Amino acid sequence: MTDKQIVLIKNSWRIFRAIAPELIGEVFYSRLFLMMPSLKPMFSSSMDTQYKKLVDMLSFIVARLDKMDEVSKTIKEMAIRHEQYGVKPGHYKLVGSALMWTLEKGLGKDWNNELKDAWTACYNVLADTMIAAAYTKDENPV
Ligand code: HEM
Repeated sequence: MTDKQIVLIKNSWRIFRAIAPELIGEVFYSRLFLMMPSLKPMFSSSMDTQYKKLVDMLSFIVARLDKMDEVSKTIKEMAIRHEQYGVKPGHYKLVGSALMWTLEKGLGKDWNNELKDAWTACYNVLADTMIAAAYTKDENPV
């Protein structure tokens, strides 16, 4: 992620967050479950609650994109919880794609290729960090 991309992400997130969360949540989960219906039973809490948690966590991370070392512990702990929910590494691509779709629909005319590249870079850093933390365990530390 470049400095410019971080600015683009922060600005677009501010616009995006002004949209009613229940509308956005509906779009995000419909898209995700359309791509992979078998994910649905993994979510036991209400979709509204779940979506709020996702958005709050993204807000926390987006606010700190220029100092990722401050959030890496939180991200790694979250990744380990996700492994316990039954999340597999391959699921991260699907969630990324549903998130991109939702951002595109939510931002409408404000969405463009530059923003898409910035958000893709951001999500990939996040997903790669989570996957590395939860699935590449060193079982025999020296
Ligand atoms: C950047 C990626 C992601 C972020 C920021 C994120 C964020 C969150 C947050 C904040 C929670 C609330 C509970 C907690 O903190 O442990 C949560 C729960 C959950 N997430 Fe994620 N998540 C991500 C990726 C994924 C992926 C790839 C899946 C796979 C389908 C997934 C499935 C779930 C499930 C099943 C729960 C628990 C739902 C429940 O208790 O009903 N998440 N996520």
